[in-house]
Amino acid sequence: DLTNKVKDICEELILSHESLREVCDILEEELNKGLGRDSNPEAAIKCFPTYVRELPNGKEKGRFLALDLGGTNFRVLLIQLGEKCSMDSRIYAVPQPIMVGSGDGLFDHIAECLSSFIKERELGDELLPLGFTFSFPCKQEGLTKARLARWTKGFKCAGVEGRDVVELLKQAIARRGDVRIKICAVLNDTTGTLMSCAWKNHNCRIGLIVGTGTNACYMEKLERVELWDGDQDMPKQVIINTEWGAFGDNGCLDFIRTEYDNNIDRESINPGRQLYEKMISGMYMGEIARQVIIRLVSEGLLFGGKSSEILEEKGSFFTKYISEIESDKNGDFNNCRTVLEELGLNNATDTDCANVRHVCECVSRRAAYLAAAGVSVLLNRIDEESVTVAVDGSVYRFHPHFHNLMTEQISHLIKPGMKFDLMLSEDGSGRGAALVAAVASRSESR
Ligand code: BG6
Ligand code: GLC
Repeated sequence: DLTNKVKDICEELILSHESLREVCDILEEELNKGLGRDSNPEAAIKCFPTYVRELPNGKEKGRFLALDLGGTNFRVLLIQLGEKCSMDSRIYAVPQPIMVGSGDGLFDHIAECLSSFIKERELGDELLPLGFTFSFPCKQEGLTKARLARWTKGFKCAGVEGRDVVELLKQAIARRGDVRIKICAVLNDTTGTLMSCAWKNHNCRIGLIVGTGTNACYMEKLERVELWDGDQDMPKQVIINTEWGAFGDNGCLDFIRTEYDNNIDRESINPGRQLYEKMISGMYMGEIARQVIIRLVSEGLLFGGKSSEILEEKGSFFTKYISEIESDKNGDFNNCRTVLEELGLNNATDTDCANVRHVCECVSRRAAYLAAAGVSVLLNRIDEESVTVAVDGSVYRFHPHFHNLMTEQISHLIKPGMKFDLMLSEDGSGRGAALVAAVASRSESR
């Protein structure tokens, strides 16, 4: 019957335990390639050393500014660390034309938001230290120098790839002439997430984002980072920003990719890039579900074979719909019906709703299992008895089952006896940026 045919078509989105193990084995190899001095230029996963070598000890204090660019929201933050902690922040829009305009346009916009925040909060008198969370793949040449390797997610500003984004920010600030700050650190959101959690949790070794994009960082021993060209001082470790979103860009994940994944990649702003990210993260998950749904409609298996204008539009099935639909209590399809009505589909039957929900479950489960495979590889590498993984991002935060799906799958994929937990790291990038700045000044003064 109908439901069985739907199940058959969705079958290719279901990953077997063997496939997931295979994904783990390949990822392990790809990480080693990224870390190797000679193999890195060819590697898809770049494993950028961050120059963050120390975790916070919980005693950091001071007042810091932070910028957070690259997630759903662009934010400016003011963070107070110490006995009395506080955080004040404001979200600013980054209009679409700026996301794909000129580099100077983007950095002028950032500087303008920073300036208006400083005026509004009357912070002009102090020379405040600033941490810049810039959540794109960067080759770092120090704590305050990060060359953008390439844009990911929805950004594509001309003239930034290959340049040091701290320098570009400084230039934009200088063009305005009304802001006094001291940029102390540039970091990825994964690093911010790890640092923020490590502040109070001493087992934290991994930072994970499953949001607009996906990526992870982890603390690695220097002896395993062949490409490290910084000093060999203590502590002999460094946080590695894996940039695992690019896993699969050399074809190594083709054995699990589907026609839907190919369609999404082909129509994206960065074809051939970030293929693992495109199977996992919030920027793409809704669109994968839409592609499957459209196929089911065209085969007469949903809505009596009749689509709607909205459903036919690229991007109309938001990732948050998946979370909403899967939040329905068993047997009731209230959220599902509301979503379908928003899409102009008013006469869905219970069977339609159950099948739409099944599609969503297959898509989100695949994403969670793939992310779990990634985390398992890092846990097995770190090989400590008990490790906390700090997590942030809208998919992890808002999907009703993502945490449980990941936890369950990780426990099947790690070495027996290892303990781990996934911990939501609230406001990682703000506090994390402040902590990187604080730890940096501690290391400097030694
Ligand atoms: C936010 C962090 O909480 O999560 C950002 O402050 C990060 O730095 C973001 O990029 C990731 O999630 P999303 O869903 O906003 O991309
Ligand atoms: C993309 C970026 C990466 C970031 C991730 C999560 O994969 O390339 O730097 O950490 O999204 O925001």
